[in-house]
Amino acid sequence: MNDTTNFDPLEIQRVMKSAPVIPVLVVKDAGKAREQAEALVDGGLKVLEVTLRTDAALEAIKRMNLVPGAIVGAGTVVNARQLEEAQGAGSEFIVSPGLTPALGDAALTSGLPFLPGIANAGDIMLGLDMGLTHFKFFPAMAAGGIPALKALSGPFGQAKFCPTGGITLETAPEWLALPQVLCVGGSWIVPDGASLEEINANARHAAALAG
Ligand code: 3PG
Repeated sequence: MNDTTNFDPLEIQRVMKSAPVIPVLVVKDAGKAREQAEALVDGGLKVLEVTLRTDAALEAIKRMNLVPGAIVGAGTVVNARQLEEAQGAGSEFIVSPGLTPALGDAALTSGLPFLPGIANAGDIMLGLDMGLTHFKFFPAMAAGGIPALKALSGPFGQAKFCPTGGITLETAPEWLALPQVLCVGGSWIVPDGASLEEINANARHAAALAG
């Protein structure tokens, strides 16, 4: 465990339990970020993951943070520099597709709620060694789907997950029914080019899923 850690696992658990689905957002136009966040929060999804895959992402995080009730975090954070930028933009949590010792150390030092990606037993063991117990199971379908997650939960019964990658409105309930799954993530809530009405309707359907 990092001896300068400010990390409290209950904080990421609180984020994960705040909504059954975390929309994974790829924001191309920061000018639309605030109204998209309003449509999502109004629909019942208040945890928003803005992926650092576009030039607009950091500005989008700042603007989405202005929406009352929104819990805005950064996704696709793959190194300490990006984590620092995401924290500077006001991210309330950090999601990564994977876990490296360097990123884990930076996250623990930052004190931000941190959800690193895992896809196998070795990844989980690295996380547990660092004091992490809450993980993004990514890419959930490609890494073996529900049978793989159930198998991983045998030796690692203390771990909790947010499966993401290939999950849809139709398949989300099977995942959410698992006791080790606190929420799921997905990009289906905000497909490229979706209108605010579509985003709001998708959020309502997702928010109605039992968490
Ligand atoms: C992610 O970044 O978490 C995934 O790309 C989201 O996966 P999905 O597009 O299959 O929902």
